[in-house]
Amino acid sequence: MNSNAPEVLISEDDIQARVLELAEQISADYADAGDLVLVGVLKGSFIFLADLSRRLSIPRTIEFIAVSSYGNGSVASGAVRLVMDVRGNIDGKHVLIVEDIVDTGHTLKYLTGMMKSHRPASIKTAALVRKAESAEVDVTVDYLGFDIGNEWVVGYGLDYAEQNRTLPYIGIIKPSDS
Ligand code: IMP
Ligand code: MG
Repeated sequence: MNSNAPEVLISEDDIQARVLELAEQISADYADAGDLVLVGVLKGSFIFLADLSRRLSIPRTIEFIAVSSYGNGSVASGAVRLVMDVRGNIDGKHVLIVEDIVDTGHTLKYLTGMMKSHRPASIKTAALVRKAESAEVDVTVDYLGFDIGNEWVVGYGLDYAEQNRTLPYIGIIKPSDS
């Protein structure tokens, strides 16, 4: 940690407590569903997925997909592109898409539509944070960690130009400063 460390928005303790609550809720909701396939959206969800998945008390497996929706910074291009699809067969399985953050909603909307082509038994979504004021499309987040304002956040998997992903908390940076 140095003097340029991002200002804390959501503390490590608050994140850990909320992730446990979400895991308990998901475990209860899927108690009778059999295997739950957690589909993590690379790269940003990797830490949230790791913590969430280890706190579940139900059978689960892990898949990853990768999309590209932004350049190497914080300026939205609008387009969502699939970079890597799931490897396993999710036909007939219960799927939970695990995202780091929902901003405009375009990425999650695209992903839920894309997942349907794999014919899962069900699709739900989890996101650690959502920028409620930034929504451009209507998309349901079934399991949400926190709503935040319209600011750029880093840490707990989230980056700005690949920096600060491994911070244990969620912090705010101003892209113009860095
Ligand atoms: P959306 O399609 O606008 O909802 O954007 C979602 C994606 O943009 C997320 O999965 C992130 O990869 C990225 N993103 C949006 N806001 C932030 C942020 O504040 N910090 C880091 N990544 C972000
Ligand atoms: Mg993402």
